[in-house]
Amino acid sequence: MPDDPRPNPAPSGIDLLVQDHELLRQVLRELDDALQGSNKDRAAAAPRLRHMLRSEFLWHENDEEVFFHPAVMRHATHHKVDVAEHVVNGVRWHDRLDKSTEEVTAIVARWEEDKGRAQPQDATVVGRFVRQMEHHFAFEESGLYRLARDLLDPVADGELHDTLAAVRLARQQQTTASKSRLPA
Ligand SMILES: [Fe+2]
Ligand SMILES: [Fe+2]
Repeated sequence: MPDDPRPNPAPSGIDLLVQDHELLRQVLRELDDALQGSNKDRAAAAPRLRHMLRSEFLWHENDEEVFFHPAVMRHATHHKVDVAEHVVNGVRWHDRLDKSTEEVTAIVARWEEDKGRAQPQDATVVGRFVRQMEHHFAFEESGLYRLARDLLDPVADGELHDTLAAVRLARQQQTTASKSRLPA
């Protein structure tokens, strides 16, 4: 696009994490749609939702804790305490979210096995999970992600991008390899 002000934006690890949030928000919308839908809708949506809950949500957290947090800490020369506080809070959030993710995964697995039949408490558990996730994404985008844009220079952000891209490629290859080992 000739009018695009950033026709070739520099590779950015922070941008990759923001893109993850967009994907995960989309999954949250699909989850909410399934919850509000019919038994047939829930049964149809359940396999993808279960897969996304067991992979993309956990991988995103892992990428933040293993690669993003240490990268920001390394560059936080003048804001170390501030950054450390955000990191500690972020990890605490992740612990809480892991428990909710497990609960929701169990609900979705039940939908899958039980022809999409929901139970009365599903709306409470799923609704809380969606709100927690949305809150966490907003918390990161206005907090640590914003700080990281100041602290990581283009080289460091580019290195984070390359690391995350390599990890994701390896995951993809592993997934493909394990699928190809399944009996036809
Ligand atoms: Fe996070
Ligand atoms: Fe995140």
